[in-house]
Amino acid sequence: MRHLLSTADLTREQAVRILDVAEDMADVATREVKKLPTLRGRTVVNLFFEDSTRTRISFEAAAKRLSADVINFSAKGSSVSKGESLKDTAQTLAAIGADGVVIRHSASGAPAVLAANAWIDAPVVNAGDGTHEHPTQALLDAFTIRRRLHGAGARGRSLDGVRVVIVGDILHSRVARSNVWLLATLGAEVRLVAPATLLPLGVRDWPVEVDLHLDDALTTNPDVVMMLRIQGERMRDAFFPSAREYAREYGLDEERLGRLRADTMVMHPGPMNRGLEISAAAADSARSVVLDQVANGVSIRMAVLYLLLSGAEEGIA
Ligand code: NCD
Repeated sequence: MRHLLSTADLTREQAVRILDVAEDMADVATREVKKLPTLRGRTVVNLFFEDSTRTRISFEAAAKRLSADVINFSAKGSSVSKGESLKDTAQTLAAIGADGVVIRHSASGAPAVLAANAWIDAPVVNAGDGTHEHPTQALLDAFTIRRRLHGAGARGRSLDGVRVVIVGDILHSRVARSNVWLLATLGAEVRLVAPATLLPLGVRDWPVEVDLHLDDALTTNPDVVMMLRIQGERMRDAFFPSAREYAREYGLDEERLGRLRADTMVMHPGPMNRGLEISAAAADSARSVVLDQVANGVSIRMAVLYLLLSGAEEGIA
């Protein structure tokens, strides 16, 4: 595979391979010198047409730890705000000599358009496109779960039988979509929870169970509870009566937290709306692995950039 556009494209072997390479990358992070020479002389462009904090700096840190040169391009202050097309931007990057492109875009499918056209001949990594996919987020989530469950013995393992409950704004969430495909491929049992207004059409055809009430889902003894951000910026209509009502029905508050096993992981991709989908108590609790997710994101992005750009292997073989 030459690009990483969707977790639906990954076989179980490929997915486990990425997680295993990320384990090697995590080992590098514990050394005094956290840098590998692997991508020396190569240029990675971070093309961010949509706001981002952790994903952009995570890709930047990952590329730098592999010794690549990094160019950060954000739409604000660029010619994109003057109406330059994706095609012109891509041709400019090709002329500059980009060896890999990491792209985040508000339009679902923009990374696939970039990968399918000959404007630029470089591997494309999807860093989040519209409501479609965010594959490296799902990979770092799977990596975080596997490490928590198996520690040093995680290499080579999948997530067979692991119970994952994903809660909230499924409709607008590329994180949910990428997680559903990847977790199913890795053998996990996924349960989605949302009010009917925040469930996508066709969700009944996904490889998941669906619950309309969080309290029902919490009785299934989950190993992982993943809370999603309410994505106000993607909502043109009212999807629930009020924030208070949503927090009461779907928020992970202290009382619900107390019903979870002590070793159930609480996840959130960030940025968190504290007090809405997740209470401060839950976000900062011993069960929360939110900061592990951020740290593991760098290892996963190093693994993906290494596999796609180093030429040492046939892409994600
Ligand atoms: C997510 C995203 O941008 O899709 N955040 C992230 O990458 N860490 C989720 C979100 O914005 O809610």
